[in-house]
Amino acid sequence: MTEIQSVHGRRVWDSRGRPTVETEIQVAGGGVGRAIAPAGASTGSGEAVDLRDGDQTFGGYDVRNALAAVEGEIAKALVGMDAADQNAVDQALIALDGTPNKSRLGGNAIVATSMAVAHATAAARGVPLWHSLGDGTARTMPLPEIQIFGGGAHAGRRVDVQDFMVMATGAEDYAEALDWTARVYLAAGKLMADADKLQGVADEGGYWPAFDTNEAALDMLVRSIEAAGLVPGEQVTISLDIAASEFGSAGRYRLGLEGRELDSNGLSEMLLGWLERYPIVSVEDPLGEDDVAGLIAFTAAAGEKVQIIGDDYLVTNAERVRSGIEKGACNAVLVKPNQAGTLSEAKAAFDAAMAAGWGAVVSARSGETEDVTIVHLAVGWCGTQLKVGSFARSERMAKWNEGLRVAETVGSALPPVSAFPWGR
Ligand code: PGA
Ligand code: ZN
Repeated sequence: MTEIQSVHGRRVWDSRGRPTVETEIQVAGGGVGRAIAPAGASTGSGEAVDLRDGDQTFGGYDVRNALAAVEGEIAKALVGMDAADQNAVDQALIALDGTPNKSRLGGNAIVATSMAVAHATAAARGVPLWHSLGDGTARTMPLPEIQIFGGGAHAGRRVDVQDFMVMATGAEDYAEALDWTARVYLAAGKLMADADKLQGVADEGGYWPAFDTNEAALDMLVRSIEAAGLVPGEQVTISLDIAASEFGSAGRYRLGLEGRELDSNGLSEMLLGWLERYPIVSVEDPLGEDDVAGLIAFTAAAGEKVQIIGDDYLVTNAERVRSGIEKGACNAVLVKPNQAGTLSEAKAAFDAAMAAGWGAVVSARSGETEDVTIVHLAVGWCGTQLKVGSFARSERMAKWNEGLRVAETVGSALPPVSAFPWGR
């Protein structure tokens, strides 16, 4: 029923208008699954790398070689294998590529294929992907982490901080969390318009950050929550992705907005000050991926109170997660399947975090499509948090909306307070 019969690669387009890889897999029982590789802009150096053609077409972003790998070597290796044995398929992909960062066949070719295999299995079983992944045991929906202002590499570095997000931590359920976020997003748009600062949206759909300082964005975020009739810090809390690797390395950080340079300690102090002044419960990549001492110090100072997520530092790698746990650097991992390259490796990073009592946030990339796989991963793996970007643009809304469909079967309940380090 689940023996792989065909593997087809198709060039499709992502939310930045760039080519990307879609893999379509058919199994013996007739089940068909397909998945599309997303693409990051603020990538960690330890990620699986996409294979891009690097020539004249589409600014070097074309993926003809990655597609040739899917249709050629990958198809040859996978046809005849059992799609239901995800681990065996992923191991075959890893061995076939043969590089530590999947650069030969391309992380894009490999992750699209790995995810398509899971979809084909679910189709053959006649159940939704979340059900196929987790034996249907999921009983809760993940808490959404939703961007209101985009910044950093997703907004021409207009402000330093990459994601100013909200989490409806006081919401009754997943549906209410979306309702509240919609109200905050609407209120933020109105406040931006009233202040003559409405200049469209950034890559992930958050408002373009027309602010003079990073703090001005935080102030506007708090005002937006209030203007939506919600209580900051009680009903709706703030979550930031500093993405510090984008503006610093070797312990030196350049705040472009203010023309200031800070050392690791200085950046930490600034962020700790924000934790005092704003209702922030989660901070991602507070220091650069190479500033492990800084991450350890920041975790020691703030890790009891807030979630500290490693993205560029941990790159969805189980070994790195274990090393972070050992060192006391961060207390949560961002799980992006395409950073790992296969679903099995992403799941291993997720499991390593959960086993240690860490948080794990299943996440989209800044370059996305209509693909909704990550929603099913978060639910099927019984994940507690989901990060998808903002509350606008269909590559984002497709995912939030898929969650609403899934919730009709799973139930809309969010995980209990005890599932969150900050005690939702
Ligand atoms: P990216 O950003 O997808 O552009 O890497 C997302 C993030 O940093 O979380
Ligand atoms: Zn990040």
